[in-house]
Amino acid sequence: MKKNLVILTGAGISAESGLQTFRDADGLWEGYNVYDVATPEAWRRNPEMVQEFYNLRRKAVLEAEPNPAHYALAKLEEKYAVTIITQNIDNLHERAGSSNVVHLHGIITKAQSSKNPNLLYDIEGWELKMGEKCALNSQLRPHVVWFGEPVPMIEPAAKICSRADIFIILGTSLNVYPAAGLSDFVPADAEKILIDPKVPDVYLPKLRTVAEKASVGVPSVVEELLKRS
Ligand code: APR
Repeated sequence: MKKNLVILTGAGISAESGLQTFRDADGLWEGYNVYDVATPEAWRRNPEMVQEFYNLRRKAVLEAEPNPAHYALAKLEEKYAVTIITQNIDNLHERAGSSNVVHLHGIITKAQSSKNPNLLYDIEGWELKMGEKCALNSQLRPHVVWFGEPVPMIEPAAKICSRADIFIILGTSLNVYPAAGLSDFVPADAEKILIDPKVPDVYLPKLRTVAEKASVGVPSVVEELLKRS
């Protein structure tokens, strides 16, 4: 039986693909305060601005390529039962070949009904326009979990963490809950590895930290894990 390997990823894994993290550039995300664009209030106040902001993020995601860290994680499936739990709204894990990815905060390539969050549509290309509506005749918005909204995937994610034999935390500042609390569900005796050039302040039993950029730290950890019998 393959061991369960669970990987929690954040914006840091996509940084070297050219997608900006949230908290590295003076708290600004592409020049915006996240709370000015990633909240239901922002959408109510100025839906055009929010739509435009995410259209540009979607364009950047479609133009970006997975980096060596995304590809290395995909290789782990040769030897482990891998689940990636990502806070990222990009699709770079999937495009690198990972087959089991849980998107805690949604995915930017899909649109969501503003009436029923379960009503989802694939977006063709990079632009979602005002006036494009769902089957319930309400405006389509990005399929992204905003601050203050429920995180429906958190329960399945917690269950997955509770079955981890090995748990990797990668490229996340662990600032945002409930995602940051997922490591509490990982069994105490599971092996844990944290990869981040700026190691966040976290205590976990059996934790090893690798203070490297994803493109360096991930391939070397993956190589080590694949070498084990
Ligand atoms: N390789 C690995 N990690 C990196 C790299 C890199 N090249 N560059 C930066 N990092 C690390 C930073 O040191 C930091 O710890 O990535 C982390 C990024 O943290 P945040 O910007 O806070 O991103 P994240 O933790 O994913 O944010 C969580 O917050 O705004 C919300 O919903 C949004 O999903 C997001 C959530």
